[in-house]
Amino acid sequence: MSVTLTPRVLKAEEVLDHLRALRSRQPVRYWAFYSSQLGGIVTDPALMVIPFDDHMVHRGHGVFDTAAIVDGRIYDLEAHLDRFIRSATTSRLTLPCTREEMRDVIARTAAASGKRDGSIRYWISAGPGSLGLPPAAGAEPGFFVMIHAGLAYPDTWYSKGLRVMTTTYPIKPPLYAVTKSTNYLPNILMQMEAQEAGLDNGVFVDEAGNVGESSNMNVAFVTRDGILKHPKFDHILSGCTSLRLLELAHGLEGNLLRGVEVCDVPVAEARGAREMLLIGSSIKVAPIVEWDGKPIGDGTPGPIARALFDVLAQDMRSARDRLLDVPY
Ligand SMILES: Cc1ncc(COP(=O)(O)O)c(C=O)c1O
Repeated sequence: MSVTLTPRVLKAEEVLDHLRALRSRQPVRYWAFYSSQLGGIVTDPALMVIPFDDHMVHRGHGVFDTAAIVDGRIYDLEAHLDRFIRSATTSRLTLPCTREEMRDVIARTAAASGKRDGSIRYWISAGPGSLGLPPAAGAEPGFFVMIHAGLAYPDTWYSKGLRVMTTTYPIKPPLYAVTKSTNYLPNILMQMEAQEAGLDNGVFVDEAGNVGESSNMNVAFVTRDGILKHPKFDHILSGCTSLRLLELAHGLEGNLLRGVEVCDVPVAEARGAREMLLIGSSIKVAPIVEWDGKPIGDGTPGPIARALFDVLAQDMRSARDRLLDVPY
């Protein structure tokens, strides 16, 4: 029973015991956590906590971003920090420190994890001090960094492909879609809806009938005449993985692709694509083989999904100008 029906006032040590019990009931793979509020790094998941009255918790006033640790280096952190700071600005959050200090804390927290491969997530919160809407007077913005095992996806997503549906939930208005805030309610509902329908994920479509994005991934297409088409980034999150892949994809031109375009992608046109791709930091590149019960192309994973996965995997290990050494 996780809800105590006859609660009493607890001593501080009991709280710690209960936080540890919570973690032992549900083990997690979180390796290191920095909190500006705790004043340092903890490695015991029971201590990875945030005050309840921080506005990020009870009002969703916070932003976050990610990065990957690949063989002891952090990949493409600057692109993610650009988006992180943009999201904080749009959300009218005060930066807790300079960009250089954030980068340094992220790298040091990664080092404290001791892990050479893993995922990083970091947040800026509005801070604690009230249960109101605007940040409390004197609220100090929080900065948090989590080093964790990352989201795991089944191998079959890559070998056999995914099946998706157009979600019945409305796409976020552009201002909120381009901001990586901690409010992911539409994204969560979309994924739950797809899973309940026996599918792998959903796709947002905008009011004009153009393809948007998926739950925590971008979507792209390869047309029958070999053009890689990606929806414009004015009404969806500008995925760091997509932006990098759109550059790297030029390397496939002349061989597998005839061109690369960022443009509106009407659903009617998208349904006739030869390949449909899911793209993001956690999934990298995976083929979608079925959308709303109809096959994409011949209903099997295509060569561009595989080729883009490979160029990205290689970039993550070898693009020296995009790799930051973790100071273990
Ligand atoms: C809604 C949404 N779209 C797209 C993406 C893909 O972005 P990235 O490639 O930076 O992981 C993400 C993940 O951050 C996301 O949450």
